[in-house]
Amino acid sequence: MKKLQVKDKTFAISIPAEELQKEVQRVAAEINRDMEGKEPLFLPVLNGAFIFAADLLREITVPCEVCFIKLASYAGTQTTGTVREVIGLATDITNRHVVIVEDIIDSGLTMAHMIETLTAHNPASISVCSCLVKPDALKVDVDIKYRCKNIPNDFIVGYGLDYDGFGRNTKDIYTLCEE
Ligand code: IMP
Ligand code: MG
Repeated sequence: MKKLQVKDKTFAISIPAEELQKEVQRVAAEINRDMEGKEPLFLPVLNGAFIFAADLLREITVPCEVCFIKLASYAGTQTTGTVREVIGLATDITNRHVVIVEDIIDSGLTMAHMIETLTAHNPASISVCSCLVKPDALKVDVDIKYRCKNIPNDFIVGYGLDYDGFGRNTKDIYTLCEE
């Protein structure tokens, strides 16, 4: 089993790159089908979504725009429950078909806040596209239109996701090992 050491914690491979890429292609095909003629505006959420967004966007074939935004709410291995403001929204989203691109939805609080904030700008539609979802951790109801994979309620790193800032730079995804 491939292992990864990130700071004081050990992780073991749980989703290999090839498996992820297949799911990314499937999701991109769904978006290409749904967004035909709609000129979607993709809003990847930094920092975590940078790798997923880069892979996903290279599979998108409909004319589109991309604007990276930020809204952080996480520290260490537990969600803090506190959410901050959306920053970086440089493009007017009024009457646009917006696709929020996230790395992972855990409690769903970050995404719920994001949707609420963006809705105030009157977009034509808002779709959520998350690489990963932890269905058992969801605390609020979020409509997740596109997702690559559901995962168990474990802490993971890699493919953009971090532990305390480290571990984002891997092609595979790793799950925290029980001590
Ligand atoms: P939520 O608000 O609880 O849904 O948390 C969402 C954010 O927490 C994500 O955008 C990630 O940045 C972070 N997060 C949630 N679960 C994990 C994990 O297992 N590893 C690393 N980051 C995570
Ligand atoms: Mg994130």
